[in-house]
Amino acid sequence: MHRALNRALIASALALTTSHVLAADKIKVGFMLPYSGTYAALGTAIENGFKLYVAEQGGKLGGRELEYFKVDDESNPAKASENANRLIKRDQVDVVIGTVHSGVAMALAKAAKSSDTTLIVTNAGADAITGAMCGPGIFRTSFSNWQPGYAMGPVAAAKGHKKAVTITWKYASGEEQMAGFRESFEKAGGTIVKDLTLPFPNVEFQSLLTEIASIKPDMVFAFFAGGGAVKFVQDYHASGLQKSIPLYGTGFLTDGTLPAQGDAAQGLLTTLHYADGLNTPRDNAFRAAYAKAYNNLQPDVYAVQGYDAAQLMQSGLTAVQGDISDKAKFRDAIRSATIDSPRGKFTLSAAGNPVQDFYLREVSGKENKVVDVAVKQLADPAKGCKL
Ligand code: BEZ
Repeated sequence: MHRALNRALIASALALTTSHVLAADKIKVGFMLPYSGTYAALGTAIENGFKLYVAEQGGKLGGRELEYFKVDDESNPAKASENANRLIKRDQVDVVIGTVHSGVAMALAKAAKSSDTTLIVTNAGADAITGAMCGPGIFRTSFSNWQPGYAMGPVAAAKGHKKAVTITWKYASGEEQMAGFRESFEKAGGTIVKDLTLPFPNVEFQSLLTEIASIKPDMVFAFFAGGGAVKFVQDYHASGLQKSIPLYGTGFLTDGTLPAQGDAAQGLLTTLHYADGLNTPRDNAFRAAYAKAYNNLQPDVYAVQGYDAAQLMQSGLTAVQGDISDKAKFRDAIRSATIDSPRGKFTLSAAGNPVQDFYLREVSGKENKVVDVAVKQLADPAKGCKL
């Protein structure tokens, strides 16, 4: 009798200690983001968005406090494996949040997969991440590169454009966004007459603009982002081409960049999974909270993607009551979550990529004003993913 009582006492003491340790231990979150270079502002917006959601939950997710680790990946693919392993092997983080650049993200996804670390991609669109490289612990709150490019094809064709020139940086993101555009534009009867590229993060656009002037297409379709997008839009405007050859792009061309682009960006049409002026209670609340938290700064698509990464974590951690060591249950809950995003509600595909609306937006003042939904509930084809 005594022995049985003793055993029961010891068992309950152990259970108490375990739950105490669990509650006391912080969940380790690693930010692998660019904090320098042409994408620096994008990295900061992602971190801001993530931390805003955590602050709204009283500083905890799933009842657990968080400890942050940070690496500046400089958008440099050559340093990506080493940087990923700083967080995964040295800091032993539970979850990696990152990154922006597709080339860096592919190395990060490889490192996360081989170490079975959960990864939430908060921008980089590399198609392979939720395609051939997909895995049970890999999720995205952003987009696949194919998606925003594909969304513009029918819009451009409906405007009567038949011949397009594309222009972008020569790396996975640019090439895949252009491929998405090509697919839907050709399906709608258009032709791409020339693909122009320059190395990332080069901004010497002059000779390419001269080439566009001599080709005389009906339109130009572009992907650039961050500091490079500011310079491209200004150079295109200064060249005078816009009067005869309208410029279109994926929304990265004008998101988070309008204060710097000024007059040069007015009237530009782009497609993206976020827009200004959605005017939903959810988005209005998010925008007000973001401006309040960050000195009147307006949120952009990158801030939304960071915010939603914290929401995904919250869904997973709630299901396991904070016990992130239950990886299978944590990940299953993430994969089946419906995220109440400022962009509108979205779910993840089996491959872990958002199935979401793509908006047509028009620049007006400092806003990418929503004009329409270009494609509803667009799902990436997830080529090569066996999940
Ligand atoms: C990318 O490399 O995937 C990317 C970078 C900036 C904006 C959008 C996509």
